[in-house]
Parts: sequence; structure tokens; C-alpha cells
Amino acid sequence: PAPLRLGIAGLGTVGVGVLKILRREAEMITMRTGRAVTVTAVSARNRGKDRGVPLEGYAWEDDPVALATRDDIDVFVELMGGSDGPAKAATEAALKAGKDVVTANKAMLAIHGQALAELAEAHGRVIRFEAAVAGGIPVVKALTEGLAGNNITRVMGVMNGTCNYILTRMQSAGLPYDVVFQEASDLGYLEADPNLDVGGIDAGHKLALLAAIAFGTKVCFDGMELEGIGRITIEDIRAAEDMGYRIKLLGVSQMTGRGLEQRMAPCLVPSSSPLGQLEGGTNMVVLEGDSVGQIVLRGPGAGEGPTASAVLSDLCDIARGFRLPVFGQPAETLSAAEAAISMTP
Ligand code: NAP
Ligand code: HSE
Repeated sequence: PAPLRLGIAGLGTVGVGVLKILRREAEMITMRTGRAVTVTAVSARNRGKDRGVPLEGYAWEDDPVALATRDDIDVFVELMGGSDGPAKAATEAALKAGKDVVTANKAMLAIHGQALAELAEAHGRVIRFEAAVAGGIPVVKALTEGLAGNNITRVMGVMNGTCNYILTRMQSAGLPYDVVFQEASDLGYLEADPNLDVGGIDAGHKLALLAAIAFGTKVCFDGMELEGIGRITIEDIRAAEDMGYRIKLLGVSQMTGRGLEQRMAPCLVPSSSPLGQLEGGTNMVVLEGDSVGQIVLRGPGAGEGPTASAVLSDLCDIARGFRLPVFGQPAETLSAAEAAISMTP
């Protein structure tokens, strides 16, 4: 069969990770999918930048929309980031031009995911985003495939590595928020706008995507009760510890008779529980289904290798011809206030 030809926009942490896997594992990918997965063209802002991977052999496009609509690509891989701007413009252009899309962009999908999914459907294309939720943890696949025989009753977890790093370091090293925030920044964990992380927004985006998949609803980020970790003090952490608890930025989503409940906020979890023991930049997603009971998925939520691993999962699916849409049907959504009242983590 003909190779699956990619256009990759964004050659930062994730884009470079994807190029490295595609180069290193070309043979394995062909064996597993039955066809070669090749890169035709790439795009980034700064053409002259050394990215630590050879770019010879790939066509270069300064404009991501031009890349997304090239005749010689089958899949547009969006790894630039940003909820609007070039990422959204190029994704829309790609779908309209008959390309499938793979993206790691939770911010774009949490806000425009429904419209993009509808656009994809209208053009007979798919948009895949395993890397957008919990980095290297294959949680989208777990929900759509592994748990396909279940009514999902609840989805919850720690989905932002930055916040977990900050809270863990405050607790274990006794350092104040400001000092640990700077450490996280120095380690490169933070989003370009750090308020997305510490404000709980990034984790909220991820929870909104998971909830839509789990419960077959519209992606509804606006209906979520959100609180970040910016007001947590070392005294709060010590007081929790004295009672046998740790503070985690925990997301919970469940369907009730009144609609979908979604909340992302700092919560007390028992220190000895799997969530309480979660260290550093690690993520944990807990899925509950009526037949399976409870499943716990734990792993790296960010970084070059883990996130690229998730992008490859989507690319291999498309290469194999798996083309079912991931998002489901619209449903009623509770107001944030109602969600807060009835949440039971
Ligand atoms: P990054 O390191 O900041 O890289 C972004 C890339 O996009 C850069 O190569 C940049 O070009 C390019 N870019 C930005 N604006 C552009 C434009 N207008 N035209 C062309 N190229 C443009 O970001 P990242 O960490 O790889 O993240 C990429 C996406 O993955 C984001 O949506 C992010 O939320 C998501 N994600 C990241 C992680 C992670 O661990 N990093 C995990 C999960 C999901 P230059 O290099 O030339 O500036
Ligand atoms: N800033 C995000 C985090 C990156 O810390 O989890 C991965 O989505």
C-alpha cells in the first residue's frame, strides 16, 4: 500500500519527538500498520533553528495553512499549540482540504473540538488527539476501545504534571509556592501562559475532552467548575498532612440524572491512596465503568517521548484505517454551581 504522508506543523518538544520516533522506528511502524508512515513537509516559525534532528528531505512551509493543504500529504499533524490562531486555521483548512488531523492541542479542542469534529465528519475525515489528554497515557484509547462495552460512570484524575510537581515539592521539601513555581518554570514544565497550568485550565481542558468521550456529550469546557492551585499555602499542605491527606489538583466528571458534572479543583486525598502517592510530573486517570469497575492508569503526562508516543498511536491508527469518530452526541450540561454542589470525589 501507498505510504501515509504527513505534514507536521510545530517542531518544538512534541514535533521533534515525533520526528525522532518516525525516523528511529520506521521499520517497526511499517510492520505494525502494514504501510510506511513518512514525513513530506514541516513547518515552524524559525526556519534556521537547530532542532537536534535532521530536516533534510522534508519540504519546508513557513505558513501552516499552506502545509495543511498540500496535495502531497494525507494527514496534517498540528503540534504548534494555542486555542486559536494558526493552529485552528490550519486544522480547519486541512479538514476542508480532505486531510485527516492529529493534534496534541487540548486548548484548541476544549474550546473548538465540537465544531472541528463536525467539520471533520462533514468532510469524511477524522481528528485524533490521544496526546492532548494525559500525555503518554493512552486514555482516549482506553475509553473508546478498551472500555467500549461499559457505561462509564465516572472519570477522575490528576491531569496536569506542573501542578502535581508544585504540590509534591511543597509537601516533600517544605518549600513555598513561589520558590517551587520557579523550579517548575526552570524545568520547562509550564505552558507558555503559566496560568493555564496553575489556574487549573489546562487540566480542565483535558477533563472536558475525557468527559465528552466518556459520556458521549458535547465538549463543554464552559460548564466546568474550575479552581487552580495558586492560593494553596505551605500551611494548607502541612495541615492536610497532619490529618493524613495530601492536596492534589483533582478533576472529576460524572453523568447524573440532571446532566454532566465537571469539576477541577484542589482536593484532599488520603496520603496512602494511589492519588496521594502520585509524585512529580506524573498523571493518574481513574476510569469507572458499570461492568469493569475501576481502572487506574498512571504515567508520564508530558515531555518529548511520552507525548510523541501518543501522537504515534493516532498516526498508526490512521495508517491501519481505523476511522471512527471519537466525540459523541450532545447532552445537557449542569451549571458550574450545580456541578460544585453535587460533586462527590
Ligand atoms: P513548543 O515546544 O513550544 O513548540 C511549538 C512549535 O510550534 C515550535 O516549533 C514553534 O516554532 C511552532 N509554531 C508556533 N507558532 C507557529 C506558527 N504560527 N507557524 C508555524 N509554527 C509555529 O510546544 P510543545 O511543547 O511541543 O507543544 C505542542 C503542542 O502539544 C501544544 O498544543 C501543547 O499543549 C501540546 N502538548 C505538549 C506537551 C508537552 O509535554 N510539551 C504534552 C501534551 C500536549 P519555533 O520552534 O520556530 O518557535
Ligand atoms: N503543561 C502541561 C502539564 C503539559 O504540566 O501537564 C502537558 O499537557
